[in-house]
Amino acid sequence: MMPEDMRRDLSITQQYVYLDNAATTPVPSPIIDEMIEYFEEYCANIERGAYSIAAKASQVCDDARKQIAGQLLHCDLDEFIFTRNQTQAVNFVAYSLEHPFLNRWSTGFKFAQPLVKWTPESKIVSTLIEHHSNYLPWLRLAKHVDAQFHSITPTEEGRLLPEMFTEVVDEHTKLVAFQHASNAMGTKHDVAAIIRAIKAANPQCLVFIDGAQGAGHMPVNVKTLGCDFYSFSGHKGPLGPPGTGGLYVRDELLRRMEPAEVGGGAIADVTANDYMLRSDHRARRWDPGTPNIIGLIGLGAAVKYLNRIGTQRIVEHEHKLTKHLLDGLREIPNLVIYGPKEDMTWKVGAVCFNIEGWASHDLSLALDSQWKILTRAGHHCCQPLMRLLNIWDTYAGNVRASFHYFNLIEEVDTLIEALKTLAG
Ligand SMILES: Cc1ncc(COP(=O)(O)O)c(C=O)c1O
Repeated sequence: MMPEDMRRDLSITQQYVYLDNAATTPVPSPIIDEMIEYFEEYCANIERGAYSIAAKASQVCDDARKQIAGQLLHCDLDEFIFTRNQTQAVNFVAYSLEHPFLNRWSTGFKFAQPLVKWTPESKIVSTLIEHHSNYLPWLRLAKHVDAQFHSITPTEEGRLLPEMFTEVVDEHTKLVAFQHASNAMGTKHDVAAIIRAIKAANPQCLVFIDGAQGAGHMPVNVKTLGCDFYSFSGHKGPLGPPGTGGLYVRDELLRRMEPAEVGGGAIADVTANDYMLRSDHRARRWDPGTPNIIGLIGLGAAVKYLNRIGTQRIVEHEHKLTKHLLDGLREIPNLVIYGPKEDMTWKVGAVCFNIEGWASHDLSLALDSQWKILTRAGHHCCQPLMRLLNIWDTYAGNVRASFHYFNLIEEVDTLIEALKTLAG
């Protein structure tokens, strides 16, 4: 499939230059068609229905879970928890690290050893380039369990390096959480090398990866990365609908994690005084109640659509667009670029910038009102980073142009010309 083919599936591309894929990627029409088909032809609740369309709905949802686990993340079905978004995935893990696992063991309820034994010396490590969603849950957890919280400062270009982690990870470090790629500087990190460094310093230390800007934009294999947890949002790179996302949890950990919510679908047996969580599909302990059926169908269809393009081709195409944009922006004298400016090795398809004298929101509004170019402006939910870059008071953040496979070089040229005009 070529970018032009994908554009035929996205009516928004006929009206706008859509460059806000890091926030949400528009959903291609074949994916919407599969969701409409559910509403029109087999709209039934899943799992418990005996009649034919309920069986079909269950089957389609089971297949979707398999597609997402196996092809988007390359993990086992039982290691994939379907979530509302990336934010919920982080909060799920933070919850389970605070609460001991409760289940029926032989004759009644018992608490099992928690995954982490917290002491006042325990340390949680994150970084100053994180999105709030991969920062607040850990900061709050540290406060709840009375652990120390340490934030790593990225390089000026927004890079995280293995040695930054080895300097702080020791035998007291229980968890390290960092991102696959940055939504506010467009940097990609060498996740596998960083994880190797962390595990060499402390093999027991758990590693959580925020893949919100990874999955769907690049091949992701959670086993090769070596992480314990990997989270993503379905509505960004993966092309799924809003209200979808996922969390990979390494199998041995998932067995011992207390689900944040319990209810129908989470259990194997219930008595008046206790319950036993289901073991046939442990990840399903984590989405009790009727799941977001339409979201599952949409995200499953989205993974099939992504496969038709091929994630490696998405990487190459986004690289081409990014390089072209950076080359153009470097020629505008009063424009400041954040993140790597020339070397594409650690760059994703998101370019962040400001023009001197313009508040970021005003610049973004001007791009829309005069050229129908849709970009995002502001702190991008990364206030600690905005403060670090010292662009909070001056620009109220930065402007971000972010790509997916359907974007064209001509659209990048339109943006460059518009910025040249605005920069005077
Ligand atoms: C790097 C990163 N992490 C986490 C999130 C949160 O994603 P969501 O709001 O879909 O939960 C975002 C959203 O932009 C992000 O870019």
